Amino acid sequence: MKKFLPDPVAGGDFLVGDSRKKPSKISVRKDEHISIALSEFPSVELDPGFRNYRFEHNALPEVDFSEIDTSVNVLGRIMSIPMMISPITGGSEKSKKVNRALSELANDFKIGFAVGSQRCALTDSSLEMTYKIRKYAPDILVFANFGAVQLNYGFSIDECRRAIDMIDADAMVFHLNPLHEVFQMGGNTNFSGILNKIEKICSKLDAPVIVKEVGYGISQTVAQRLADVGVYAIDVAGAGSISWSEIEKKRSKDVVVHSASKAFIGWGNPTAECIKEIADNVEDIKIIASGGVKTGVDMAKSIALGADFCGNASEFLKRVSISRSECEIFVESLILELKTAMLCTGCKNINELRSAKIKKVS
Ligand SMILES: Cc1cc2nc3c(=O)[nH]c(=O)nc-3n(C[C@H](O)[C@H](O)[C@H](O)COP(=O)(O)O)c2cc1C
Repeated sequence: MKKFLPDPVAGGDFLVGDSRKKPSKISVRKDEHISIALSEFPSVELDPGFRNYRFEHNALPEVDFSEIDTSVNVLGRIMSIPMMISPITGGSEKSKKVNRALSELANDFKIGFAVGSQRCALTDSSLEMTYKIRKYAPDILVFANFGAVQLNYGFSIDECRRAIDMIDADAMVFHLNPLHEVFQMGGNTNFSGILNKIEKICSKLDAPVIVKEVGYGISQTVAQRLADVGVYAIDVAGAGSISWSEIEKKRSKDVVVHSASKAFIGWGNPTAECIKEIADNVEDIKIIASGGVKTGVDMAKSIALGADFCGNASEFLKRVSISRSECEIFVESLILELKTAMLCTGCKNINELRSAKIKKVS
């Protein structure tokens, strides 16, 4: 028999929702994920691994700082810096506000933006408006998203097309989240045959397919299997940032979940390791670096290790919960840090940064 603790974590006071409407179960879950992600995880000691790499400092760069070009072209969209806001949310009043604020920010700074899982809006069209950000972000790279496991629970190519059309997206992003689904109450845990289904989508969909993790990393072996079936890019979403077993523990009253989640503190492939292994060994696949990419120096290291561009969810979420100006300070810091790292490695543009001298220090 299951034993339960008395008090589950309730949603916090992050961005005031619409109290006139009774939120659905899924909306409550989305809001709880946001609230818990905004709290601290004192017991989690994850490190994305960037500290294990050091650039060779170039004291004589022969580069004019004011002429450094940090832009990249991804799928025909120019990004001012190689950064996107990774999938976070959608499906509730609060998440609608988060999506609007972050997509406007992304458009103003010319970075990319991905909505969170659109699963709920694909089954309940009244929630579509919580994702509809294209009007706030007309110029930038926008990604659609839902869990690949849904391909075993009734979703198919039609849902992919609808997810893309809903937000006029440039690409479809599937997340792989086995550990999360196990710890999430009522999670969908049948991952068998998913690769085959991803292959079919890749061959039929008129948009590139990207596959990401949600914080535990994609290994070289998994990246190779995905590359072999036609996936355009891997977003490593490596370990070093959030822990879904901890998030679900905080949502759960189940004492077994509380006990078992401890064993997964520190689980996963660190981000820097994923990037390097995939870049060195897997051909014909773009790499998105995310999972604890928090500074422009982390971005520069990611590019030098082999990533094409970077993503971040948690840091943007923290800032948007405070104010627009906190978000601006964050992006402007990323730009300054990235440009400084480029000057100090003698790189005038992102292509040159790809071959900057970086070495493993531990
Ligand atoms: C509150 C929250 C909700 C998230 N929801 C999604 C989601 O719906 N789909 C998805 O692919 N990833 C989701 N993620 C995972 C992030 O996109 C990202 O992979 C992860 O947070 C690790 O990267 P970070 O260090 O940039 O946060 C979510 C993350 C957070 C913090």
